[in-house]
Amino acid sequence: MIQIYSAQDQAGLRASAKVLASVVNALVNMVAPGVTLLQLEQKAAELIAQAGAQPAFLGYHGYKNILCTSVNQEVVHCPPTSRVLVDGDIVSIDAGVIVDGMYSDCAVTVPVGEVSPEAKRLIAVTRTALYEVARQVIKPGNTIGDIGHAIQTYVEQQGFSIVRQLVGHGIGRHLHEEPSIPNYGTAHSGPTLKAGMAIAVEPMVNTGKPDVHFEDDGWRVVTSDGTFSAHFEHTFLITETGCEVLTQL
Ligand code: MF3
Ligand code: CO
Repeated sequence: MIQIYSAQDQAGLRASAKVLASVVNALVNMVAPGVTLLQLEQKAAELIAQAGAQPAFLGYHGYKNILCTSVNQEVVHCPPTSRVLVDGDIVSIDAGVIVDGMYSDCAVTVPVGEVSPEAKRLIAVTRTALYEVARQVIKPGNTIGDIGHAIQTYVEQQGFSIVRQLVGHGIGRHLHEEPSIPNYGTAHSGPTLKAGMAIAVEPMVNTGKPDVHFEDDGWRVVTSDGTFSAHFEHTFLITETGCEVLTQL
């Protein structure tokens, strides 16, 4: 069942996402050559505590961190380590928080120093796929398939590929709720969007082939061909006329 959130719960979602957006924004501003992934994790811990929020990923199915920090060919779900970011890296920062029982989820991919033209374009295309292409089709009456179809069509036109083994999700009283939200698919298919639904849409885009490999630690996901991958995610609320981008940075 897909939840329709009450006005009160919607206010809670907004409050949660507002905290998350400010945390992610601060982390983005910290990214530079010489910074370690654990420094990002530490900063996230401080900011989330200061806001009176709780981290949403810590303890989730045994995950031991607050952030996922996935670098270069790493796609998603990589626990922060002492790895030092260097010029030319791209780093995806994925975070979630809980405020008064309401969850929000957000991810961005950031260039470290000067990156290759292809890496720059990968980030721009993935960002546009979410911030413009998906956002325009997230409205009542459209379907989940319309979202995936729009994202896939745009990304493939740009010569990149969409990861299929991981998907977005409903969100609200839990981190992951129904429905699943693939970043590929067929227009007019799947459940219909209705005002009051909350969804996390999170395209993962590879410069090479779409296939990903799940590492033995049970978390880390990397591209099978070793090419770079980018990931952007927003928490959206469906409104009467369209959507609100709750995690606007
Ligand atoms: N945005 C990611 C997702 O929805 C974050 C999950 S990390 C986890 O899959 F540790 F919480 F699983
Ligand atoms: Co998510």
